[in-house]
Amino acid sequence: MSRAELTKIILPEEKIPKFWYNVQADMPNPLAPGLHPQTKKPLTPSDLTPIFPMSLIEQEVSTERYIEIPQEVREIYKQWRPSPLFRARRLEKALDTPCRIYYKYEGVSPVGSHKLNSAIPQVFFNKVAGIKRLTTETGAGQWGTALSLACKMFGLECIVYMVRISFQQKPYRRLFMETYGAQCIPSPSEKTEIGRKILLEYPETPGTLGIAISEAIEDAVQCAETNYALGSVLNHVCLHQSIIGQEVRLQLEMVEDYPDVVIGCCGGGSNFAGIAFPFVPDKLKGKKVRLVAVEPSACPSLTRGKFAYDYCDIAGLTPLLKMYTLGSNFTPAGIHAGGLRYHGCSPLLSQLYADGLLEAKAVKQKGVFEAAVLFAQTEGIVPAPESAHAIKATIDEALAGKKEGVARSIVFNLSGHGHLDLTAYENYFSGVIKDVVISEKEIQENFKRLPVIN
Ligand SMILES: Cc1ncc(COP(=O)(O)O)c(C=O)c1O
Repeated sequence: MSRAELTKIILPEEKIPKFWYNVQADMPNPLAPGLHPQTKKPLTPSDLTPIFPMSLIEQEVSTERYIEIPQEVREIYKQWRPSPLFRARRLEKALDTPCRIYYKYEGVSPVGSHKLNSAIPQVFFNKVAGIKRLTTETGAGQWGTALSLACKMFGLECIVYMVRISFQQKPYRRLFMETYGAQCIPSPSEKTEIGRKILLEYPETPGTLGIAISEAIEDAVQCAETNYALGSVLNHVCLHQSIIGQEVRLQLEMVEDYPDVVIGCCGGGSNFAGIAFPFVPDKLKGKKVRLVAVEPSACPSLTRGKFAYDYCDIAGLTPLLKMYTLGSNFTPAGIHAGGLRYHGCSPLLSQLYADGLLEAKAVKQKGVFEAAVLFAQTEGIVPAPESAHAIKATIDEALAGKKEGVARSIVFNLSGHGHLDLTAYENYFSGVIKDVVISEKEIQENFKRLPVIN
């Protein structure tokens, strides 16, 4: 089919990839090893067994290019995968751009985002390892919702520590998780030692993902049958999300196109990794594809962070990972893209960014919502505020193409819908939403508190 014809580019079910793509096989520079939080020595697999099953630990360190997706996981993926790739014809028209804009729509998953792509295999591998209960953190609520459903599907109990500001802003998210049978706790909470300590010191804190991760890990290490699951950042999560970009490649082949630019919003990095990493081998072979990660100016870990060892959480319970970070003590403003309020960024993404294979861009909130509204009014889908960061960058690319008179092919990951984020839209319409740019002073202050590694 010629690229002029299709609007909805659909792959048949049998084309769901049988393997995840592991970018670790192709990286020009390998990852710096994770370090033990106390000894600061390189991690051994046994350091991670109190919270992860061995199968996921193996995926974390694997340098195999392809890792087989278990049949049980593929069966569940069938409910929403392959997800559609759309040509954004009405958006193109509204922008009067010569560029071709495509979006991969991950909002068709039952929970409304890409997060289920990793929740299903994570719960599956925990179930096989005999685990009965999983704890996790959630920012916007999308990851918590995905893990809640995945746990219900495999018969595990699910405890979600939800960043307090999101818990307050998004009551329907909490109800979503409870509908799947999960227990949802606002973080910081009285349930854990770290939560009690933070509440005593900062009773009004909006919470952060770093705090919620500490609480979920503290809970998990106390019980042998409980493990912990993380919704982004780690290598195995990026691995699972690679299914997105692999499908995109096949879908673009169907319309005889190839992207000049691949765009994804970036919190912990998993949805961007998912769409972008399968294009890294082409880039290494000299193809001129640009891979652009988009983050909020309120939490600019890639564009203004430091590439250094840091903790993933506030209490220093997690291993130290080398990543672009604003410091695990950094408390971003309570912006509505809750899923992009993480102080660090996936080590895989960070290393590739440091090696110049990826680009990064920070965008401000008001422009993001303006883009989201234009997208809703042209394509009909109300995007998640996180995904709208990718839309903003896509629109900027398409307008640049118009100015330069170049008809680029642009594809972005629409990582989720915003049906439960309408309060954010209300705040935008009523002018409550402000642009947040953090000061250099605040950034430098946080860098001073980064752990010292010899
Ligand atoms: C819809 C959506 N997109 C993107 C993200 C950002 O996370 P990541 O960078 O891991 O994809 C989130 C996180 O909660 C999300 O909910």
